[in-house]
Amino acid sequence: MAAKKKAVRKATGRAAAARKPAPQNAFYAQSGGVTAVINASAAGVIETARKHKDRIGKVFAGRNGIIGALTEDLIDTSKESAAAIAALAHTPGGAFGSCRYKLKGFEENQAEYERLIEVFKAHDIGYFFYNGGGDSADTCLKVSQLSEKMGYPIKAIHVPKTVDNDLPLTDCCPGFGSVAKYVAVSTKEAALDVESMAKTSTKVFILEVMGRHAGWIAAAGGLAGSGAPGEPPHIILFPEITFDRAAFLARVDESVKKYGYCVIVASEGVRDVDGKFLADAGTVDAFGHKQLGGVAPYLADLVRSELGYKYHWALADYLQRSARHIASETDLRQAYAVGKAAVELALKGRNSVMVTIERKSNKPYKWAIGEAPLKKVANQEKFMPRNFISKDGFGITERCRQYLLPLIKGEAYPPYKDGMPKYVRLKNAAVPKKLPEFELKKK
Ligand code: F6P
Repeated sequence: MAAKKKAVRKATGRAAAARKPAPQNAFYAQSGGVTAVINASAAGVIETARKHKDRIGKVFAGRNGIIGALTEDLIDTSKESAAAIAALAHTPGGAFGSCRYKLKGFEENQAEYERLIEVFKAHDIGYFFYNGGGDSADTCLKVSQLSEKMGYPIKAIHVPKTVDNDLPLTDCCPGFGSVAKYVAVSTKEAALDVESMAKTSTKVFILEVMGRHAGWIAAAGGLAGSGAPGEPPHIILFPEITFDRAAFLARVDESVKKYGYCVIVASEGVRDVDGKFLADAGTVDAFGHKQLGGVAPYLADLVRSELGYKYHWALADYLQRSARHIASETDLRQAYAVGKAAVELALKGRNSVMVTIERKSNKPYKWAIGEAPLKKVANQEKFMPRNFISKDGFGITERCRQYLLPLIKGEAYPPYKDGMPKYVRLKNAAVPKKLPEFELKKK
């Protein structure tokens, strides 16, 4: 009798094991402009996957984003210690390399899709986690459609990231809170400097910030002061507001005469009445975006020639995007959480979605993780609503301040040694290749 029961138990166990899918490997990659906290999302993905060994085998990272998948240049993250993966959370840049590479449509370049499937099959990849902004969401969407179009089952989840904060359907984007904190703090500090010098020297300071076509980062400069009259920044220039040369010069002059100095935060994406960028570096990326940069020197020249005031200008450029030493704790937590949630969603069988951050309340600030269909996210940009910008177009409203404040909250300093932050450099060991070489098409 006992032997019979044991045999039944054994058979039931075998049947359950047969029902349970064998673990498959996961692909994770970073895409687009990197941030101070994108590696925290990587840590979220890898650490969560490691907790589900029965479902996810290894996490292979793409060297330089989707290019790593196309060229079978995969990194075996299982070779990294738990301590190294944890240290990603305080290391800026993209630990596996990023890319700006547009996958063409199926019809235009089917070879790329066939190649992706070959690589996924060869390395038993059943999960695809893509960490990027709007353009990268387009890549993730195309991969998610492989299941239907080419009969290869894959769970593709987009892990949001962009300093520009312009992804739709999420309250904010990981990476933004930290750049916002850097810009707010730098504006505050530089303003104290200019104010000290203004009597006999510099009267105008211009800080140029990133953000492409959306003014979220420029708006963060507004957090440098309380918004009371005379408090810097005295002028913010948004891409959402057409640049009015005369009104700008009048406001600079008024600020210098009234307060002794003028601090300006200018977005790289400011346009003139004809819709032309004030500063266009002349190059275009794989997605057709113009490289921006140079608004600050343009404005400085205008101030010099029209008003004759002494000025200084600065381009925050990559400094703002990489400033992990002054990252926002809120941002760091959210960056980790979206990575973790991406794995959990994939394990629930979700495909073709982006993890989102939902704001539940402002005071106290509460947020939760949600999800949005990738179809509604890819290639979309979310701009500053008009009621976030003051009537005169040169500042932020109280509503905008309340939106921004929680996102820069909290400090999350990296560990320091001998006065320098201790950042991790991974081994990034290559997974042995199994397939013939694949040549990327010149874009
Ligand atoms: O998309 C993020 C971003 O930092 C933009 O704000 C900026 O215009 C762009 O990337 C710069 O891109 P790249 O580093 O490829 O020149």
